[in-house]
Amino acid sequence: MRKTIIELKKADLTLGSAAATVHVLKGIDLSIGQGESVGIVGPSGSGKSTLLMVLAGLERLDSGEITVNSEPLHLLSEDALANFRGRNIGIVFQSFHLIANMTALENVAVPLELANTRNPFDIARRELQAVGLGDRLNHYPGQLSGGEQQRVAIARALAPSPALLIADEPTGNLDTETGRQIADLLFSKQAERGTTLVLVTHDTALAARCSRQIHVRSGALVPDHEVRSAPEALAV
Ligand SMILES: Nc1ncnc2c1ncn2[C@@H]1O[C@H](COP(=O)(O)OP(=O)(O)OP(=O)(O)O)[C@@H](O)[C@H]1O
Ligand SMILES: [Mg+2]
Repeated sequence: MRKTIIELKKADLTLGSAAATVHVLKGIDLSIGQGESVGIVGPSGSGKSTLLMVLAGLERLDSGEITVNSEPLHLLSEDALANFRGRNIGIVFQSFHLIANMTALENVAVPLELANTRNPFDIARRELQAVGLGDRLNHYPGQLSGGEQQRVAIARALAPSPALLIADEPTGNLDTETGRQIADLLFSKQAERGTTLVLVTHDTALAARCSRQIHVRSGALVPDHEVRSAPEALAV
């Protein structure tokens, strides 16, 4: 049996303040095995991005438990959590989130340098070569296409060799063909390194490429029997 890498128990979270509070995650139980690829789907506003932020240790639960790679994140201090994220989690966003005044090489190397990794620029160069950008090392994000920027973001996410790669609509800002190439890259890196991949997408074809799909509705997971009995009712 494969090792469990993510375990959520009764995960509950309300966001906002005063009149604008939203009960975003409503007692979610979830278990994900090492090396799985999981596609999280569901309507807009159902809580998918928030769930990813909880898995990434970027959002804290109000109640419940979250264990990632054997660390109980709900029990860690802010410092310990930041340290854990740097070593264990890679994140890719829809809008790339690169630093505009840093080159592709610097975007990948500087976080490694800040984490006191040895030879950060050598690692960054190797990671960028591995995503096919060996000839774009000194380009700034504004000089790169959307697909190339997302490749830099993937290289940056993978550079610390995280156990868990999280992607929030990684192809959402790309045309169909470029999106397919980025998905190919994510799945090939996941397979090659045995990384666990959890992604959110509105693209049914991308979700179908994952080893498992999780449907979220109004902050709760849709039970498997409902997914099987009426899959067409689950808009993404
Ligand atoms: N900081 C916040 N304060 C108040 N409400 C919030 C906050 N962040 C998110 N929400 C609300 O929580 C709900 C879930 O948001 P979330 O971003 O997780 O949805 P999503 O499923 O990712 O949607 P989309 O598919 O549109 O990206 C939404 O109704 C949103 O308005
Ligand atoms: Mg979202």
